Amino acid sequence: MPTILAIESSCDDTSAAIVADGVVLSNVTAGQAIHEEFGGVVPEHASRAHQRNIVPTVAVALRRAGIAAEDVDAVAFTRGPGLIGSLMVGVSFAKAFALARDLPLIEVDHMMAHVLAHFAEDPAPEFPYLCLTVSGGHTQLVVVHSALEQEIIGRTIDDAAGEAFDKSGKMLGLSYPAGPEIDKLARQGQARVTFAKPDPGGLDFSFSGLKTSILYTLQKKLKTEPDFVVDNLPDICASIQHTIVAILLRKLTMTAEQTGLTRIALAGGVSANSGLREGLTELAKEKGWTVFIPRIEYCTDNAAMIGVMGTFKYAAGEFVGQEVAPAARF
Ligand code: KG4
Ligand code: ZN
Repeated sequence: MPTILAIESSCDDTSAAIVADGVVLSNVTAGQAIHEEFGGVVPEHASRAHQRNIVPTVAVALRRAGIAAEDVDAVAFTRGPGLIGSLMVGVSFAKAFALARDLPLIEVDHMMAHVLAHFAEDPAPEFPYLCLTVSGGHTQLVVVHSALEQEIIGRTIDDAAGEAFDKSGKMLGLSYPAGPEIDKLARQGQARVTFAKPDPGGLDFSFSGLKTSILYTLQKKLKTEPDFVVDNLPDICASIQHTIVAILLRKLTMTAEQTGLTRIALAGGVSANSGLREGLTELAKEKGWTVFIPRIEYCTDNAAMIGVMGTFKYAAGEFVGQEVAPAARF
C-alpha cells in the first residue's frame, strides 16, 4: 500500500495530508480569513491565498507525518468541482511535485471524497451505505455501492444547505461563513419562529424558497417590532437551523425507506452542525439505523479525504497523465 501526498484546494481552504496504507498520518489545513470581510468567498482572493499557502502547508503535512518528500509514492489531488483559480493552484502543485519525482498522479472528485471521509477514522461504514452530503456548494443523497461506485439519487435543485445557512446569516448581519455562528447562537435559543419548508418532490431538495420565507417573515415582524432581529437573534437562529435540519432529515428518512439502507452517513461542512448531528442521532435510535458522523476536521474541506479516495484509486490502478487539468466532471 502506498504513501500518498494529498492536496485539496477547491474553495477557500488549502489542505495537504499524508495517507500511508490508508491511515491518515497528517492532515493540515490553512483557512482564509480574508473572505469574512466580503460576506462570501472571493475567487480572486482565494486563488492568491492558495498560491501563498500551498508550499508551507505541504511542508507541515510532511513534517507532522514524519515523512520525507522522497518517501511519497503517489500524489492525489482534487481535480474538481470547485473554483477554477483555486483548483489550478492545487493541480499545478500536484503535477509539479509528481513530475519532479516521477510519481503517479491520482485525480479525485471532491464530492466523492467527502463521501469517503469516514475511512479517515474507525469504524468506517461497510458498503453499501447511504450518505447525506451537505456542504456550501452541494446537497446530495448518495448510495455508496463501493468506494468508486457512488450513485447520486437526490440533490438540491437550487441552493445548497450550507448556502441556506450562509445566506440567511447574511440577512441577520452575521459574518461569512454564517453556518457555525448560527449553530452557536441556536444553542442559546428556542425554535419558535415558523418558516416554510419547500419541497420539490421526490428525493430532491430546495432551499431558495426558505431564504425568501425568512426574508418576508423578518420584514413583516420588523414593521411592528423594529428591534425584532436584535432582540431575538438566538431564537431566529434556532428556528432557521431547526427548519434546515427538518428538511434534510425528512428526505434522508424517505431515501432510507426507499433503498432499505440502514447504514447512514453524513458528510460535508454542514455535518459539523450540532442540530443536524443530534437530530440524526435521535432519528437513528427510533429507526434502528447505524450512523456514521465524521470528526469535524473531516467534515469540512480537508486533504485527508482526498488521500483516502486516492488510496482506493491507487489500488484500482486509476492514474492520470501530466496533461490533466481541473474539471467540474470527469
Ligand atoms: O464542505 P465545506 O467545508 O466546503 C464546501 O465544499 O462547500 O462546507 C462549507 C459549508 C459552509 O456553508 C458553512 O457555513 C457550513 O459548511 N458549515 C456549517 C457549520 N460548519 C460549517 N453549517 C452549519 N453549522 C455548522 N456548524
Ligand atoms: Zn467540500
